[in-house]
Amino acid sequence: MFKMIVLYSIVSVLFIHGSSAKVAPSYIKTCPGLKSDCLKKTIEDTLPHFAKGIPELGIAPIDPLAEDHVKLILPGGFKVELHNGTMTGLRKCDIESVSYANNEANMLMHCNLTIKGVYKASGRILIVSINGDGDAKIKIKNLKLVAKIKFQDKERDGVIYHEAKDLKIEHEYGDKVIFSLTNLFQGNPELSEAVLQFLNQNWKQIAEEFGQPLVDRLVSIVSKIITKFFTVVPKDELFVD
Ligand SMILES: *[C@@H]1O[C@H](CO)[C@@H](O)[C@H](O)[C@H]1NC(C)=O
Ligand SMILES: *[C@@H]1O[C@H](CO)[C@@H](O)[C@H](O)[C@H]1NC(C)=O
Repeated sequence: MFKMIVLYSIVSVLFIHGSSAKVAPSYIKTCPGLKSDCLKKTIEDTLPHFAKGIPELGIAPIDPLAEDHVKLILPGGFKVELHNGTMTGLRKCDIESVSYANNEANMLMHCNLTIKGVYKASGRILIVSINGDGDAKIKIKNLKLVAKIKFQDKERDGVIYHEAKDLKIEHEYGDKVIFSLTNLFQGNPELSEAVLQFLNQNWKQIAEEFGQPLVDRLVSIVSKIITKFFTVVPKDELFVD
């Protein structure tokens, strides 16, 4: 067994570094000079492919983004659990601008995202009490995302990688957040409907006051996937002066 692993490691090292074969999938194009227009176009073209994940590099999909179980305690002690959660929409984000200078990339985009799952929640949100479990769908319309990635060269086995050292994603809610949640108040359809209406009427305040832990969780998952990409794909396959 051990011999097999050693053999496999040698073969894979030879395959990846010993030949001229590229690590990055062929749909990834480079931008000589790293000009903003080219970077924008390249990211627009690459995103729908990248979003599906790159299994051969161990890079998980970001659209759909799947999480079996998320448990969060929101401000005010409000408890939410989401099972079989998925988020879709990242592949279709509208890339507005991209820039790269001094080892730092900045990207501005707008996205329509949909989160779905089976939820369980209890506690107070603003003036309403919730004690529910059912199906959850949350649509976030026209979310503005600003991503800032700081890179740093790192050499491993004679290959230079331009690794993402620090990745920040800031967000701003856009047009609307639409909540569709069944059974918000267990066994009481009228009250459930009234609470749902309340959530939708106050979507902005709710998203801003209670959404942060969920957003943080999503950002951390997406950041890990992006960081992994730059850790496995050599710099010279991506950054061309
Ligand atoms: C999650 O999905 C799995 C597989 O489809 C299913 O067996 C399980 O019951 C689901 N969990 C919930 C809480 O719905
Ligand atoms: C988001 O959806 C709206 C319609 O609801 C559409 O006008 C807009 O172009 C979409 N944005 C993106 C980035 O897909």
